Amino acid sequence: MEAAVLNSDRNCLACEWERIGLLAHILAGSRQGRQASQAELERLGMLQRQVEHFRCQGGGWRVAAPAGLSPMELDVLACVVAPEAEPRLGWLFQSLQSGAPSPYPTPALLQELLAMAPEETPFLYGVLTEASPLRDNGLIVVDGGSDPFQPIRPAPGVTARLLGRPDITGDLPGAVRVRAMPGWEDLVLPPDRVAMLQEFLLWITHKATVVTAWGGLDCGGPVGLFSGPSGTGKTFAAAVLAAGLGWPLYRVDLGRLVSKYIGETEKNLNRLFDNAHGRSMILQFDEADSLFSKRGEVKEARDRYANMEVSHLLARIESHQGPVILTTNLRKQLDPAFARRFQVVVDFPRPDSTARTRLWQRLLPPRAPRGPDVDPSFLGAAVNLTGGSIRNAALHAAYLAAGDGRPLDLGHITLAVWRELGKDGRELTPADLGPLAPYLPREAPC
Ligand SMILES: Nc1ncnc2c1ncn2[C@@H]1O[C@H](COP(=O)(O)OP(=O)(O)OP(=O)(O)O)[C@@H](O)[C@H]1O
Ligand SMILES: [Mg+2]
Repeated sequence: MEAAVLNSDRNCLACEWERIGLLAHILAGSRQGRQASQAELERLGMLQRQVEHFRCQGGGWRVAAPAGLSPMELDVLACVVAPEAEPRLGWLFQSLQSGAPSPYPTPALLQELLAMAPEETPFLYGVLTEASPLRDNGLIVVDGGSDPFQPIRPAPGVTARLLGRPDITGDLPGAVRVRAMPGWEDLVLPPDRVAMLQEFLLWITHKATVVTAWGGLDCGGPVGLFSGPSGTGKTFAAAVLAAGLGWPLYRVDLGRLVSKYIGETEKNLNRLFDNAHGRSMILQFDEADSLFSKRGEVKEARDRYANMEVSHLLARIESHQGPVILTTNLRKQLDPAFARRFQVVVDFPRPDSTARTRLWQRLLPPRAPRGPDVDPSFLGAAVNLTGGSIRNAALHAAYLAAGDGRPLDLGHITLAVWRELGKDGRELTPADLGPLAPYLPREAPC
């Protein structure tokens, strides 16, 4: 079934490219005063019918474009993607628009190629406006406004999605790819939080139904706010969502984006969002509190610029057509007016003892030899650690055991937990270890 669908998608697109190639060939001929032959016209008529038939069935375009695009919108999309799908069509377009030497078609070329009557051209320019479905869904990039001689390109990643090619658009400027791809079963959270995360996914997977088919309001995003103490799994949950979609997760490093030069930060942000436009990915911004809490408090000139950047960032996040996750450790400092701007707000609690037990079970290396005293439910009940600290302690304990050349035991785990608690920089006493205290090796410095 799946293979049959893919085959029909490929046939559909093959007809599209052949039709565009023939239209370009006929146009090239007519520019030299040559009329299309009867055979060419018959072939064109047949291709036209095949294209219409496939489009009616939703074939070909459905992997990248929403349902319900008009014939003109699909014609424009096909012409814009054609040079990347079939490079010979790119060379042909280039030879047909010597004034704009680009393999991508200009509106002027589209008008000729699709044999539009003068009264039809306003529709063509309507298809290219910012609010049009092609641009709103991140399918095409129009650099020249309504300039008829500026080429129109497919948005990065669109051709790759359509043709099932790997997306080689490359990394995002100012962002770091999070490589982990955990599954839902790895995520330890109360069931209502898991449900909220799954609802966030619905905003992505069912957008075509709600917005295009049902006429629901398209408010961009979705934008989610994940709040909670450090190490409670906010980034981990974002990675679970990304893995569920089969999309990459990019963590935006604000340090790399924010420049001391006025105007540069804005340019960096624009570069990031322009690059992300139309690509299937999740963007994650950490420390959202530092972005929002400052808003409105202009104390000195530098703050004023910081505020301008914040407004610009917010505007770009809100108009971005793709999932964005903001994380914060300090929900309380967030302007409550902002909470309403997010489609989903999820609070990540510190894990209770049952959750900690599950985390110890998952995070102790599964094939490490263990002593008989290692019991995850005892560990879960013993010390109030976050998932991040349990991960660190579990790994550190494994290294201690490997270094000792012995199975992992409670002594290793207790020392690793002691080290983890000590990272806060506060004065520790063995009492902080609760029931683990008797297992702290004597040589561990206090
Ligand atoms: N709820 C959880 N479920 C499963 N694993 C968790 C959970 N919380 C933390 N972990 C583990 O701890 C690691 C660190 O968590 P993560 O980086 O997601 O924390 P965070 O909330 O993003 O912290 P920060 O606010 O410091 O960025 C994860 O990679 C994962 O191994
Ligand atoms: Mg994080």
